[in-house]
Amino acid sequence: MKLKNKVAVVTGGAQGIGAEIAKKFANEGATVIAADMNELKYEADNVHGYELNVTDVKKCKAFFDDIVESYGKIDILVNNAGITRDAMTRKMTDEQWNLVLDVNLKGVFNLVRHIGPHMEKNGGGSIINISSVVGVFGNIGQANYSASKAGILGLTKTWAKEFARKGVPVRVNAIAPGYVMTEILQTVPDDLLDKFAAMTMLKRLGEPEEIASVASFLASGDASYITGQTLNVNGGMRL
Ligand SMILES: NC(=O)c1ccc[n+]([C@@H]2O[C@H](COP(=O)([O-])OP(=O)(O)OC[C@H]3O[C@@H](n4cnc5c(N)ncnc54)[C@H](O)[C@@H]3O)[C@@H](O)[C@H]2O)c1
Repeated sequence: MKLKNKVAVVTGGAQGIGAEIAKKFANEGATVIAADMNELKYEADNVHGYELNVTDVKKCKAFFDDIVESYGKIDILVNNAGITRDAMTRKMTDEQWNLVLDVNLKGVFNLVRHIGPHMEKNGGGSIINISSVVGVFGNIGQANYSASKAGILGLTKTWAKEFARKGVPVRVNAIAPGYVMTEILQTVPDDLLDKFAAMTMLKRLGEPEEIASVASFLASGDASYITGQTLNVNGGMRL
């Protein structure tokens, strides 16, 4: 029960990696708000669904106010909501570019601009940003996605400095998952997934639970001296 009495917000918590993080946090004793555009695809004790599109600036503020009023505080924020709209750069539309940047990068800012200062005022907290192996190394056909996920790494370091500047322990870290079996990979051809699996030292893709356990570690007191870091959770891809 490493997260006992903690209030955690997990964006994109309706399915996939976010769902596993929400369930893991609840198992560790947290009260979890899984904020997503869609309804939760599961039921779990102490995981509460909340309809939120992270691109909606006004609703993000209203969400923050509502959660603090209902639960008293936010101790943990996992910025996990994310999408892909893949295309080679020469064919990428403005719509594809803007949508991915709006959800994956601006959506993170829309919440942290409220929740970061709240944690600072409240005496501490842990923010975990879900980046990607693609944000670290780049990938053909994913200019928009790689830009958004690399941007998250810059935000992570900036916020680790900004919210702790008065000596308050607000820790901000990123997780850069490798390829993990969820719906987001549905558009990736099987032969490419096999290739990605072969590129790892462990010769397989990841499971959402393997990202959730790292998020749980970073959220907990076990990671009390870790901030501004990116944990690559990718089975040793590209060592
Ligand atoms: N699966 C992978 O291989 C992989 C690898 C690296 C990083 N990631 C990242 O992990 C995160 C979770 O991805 P996943 O694999 O679980 O994908 P997923 O598609 O299964 O889940 C994404 C969730 O985000 C929600 N979402 C999308 N747009 C939203 C918005 N505007 N507002 C609120 N919620 C929104 C979706 O409804 C969905 O529940 C994403 O940020 C993704 O980029 C995934």
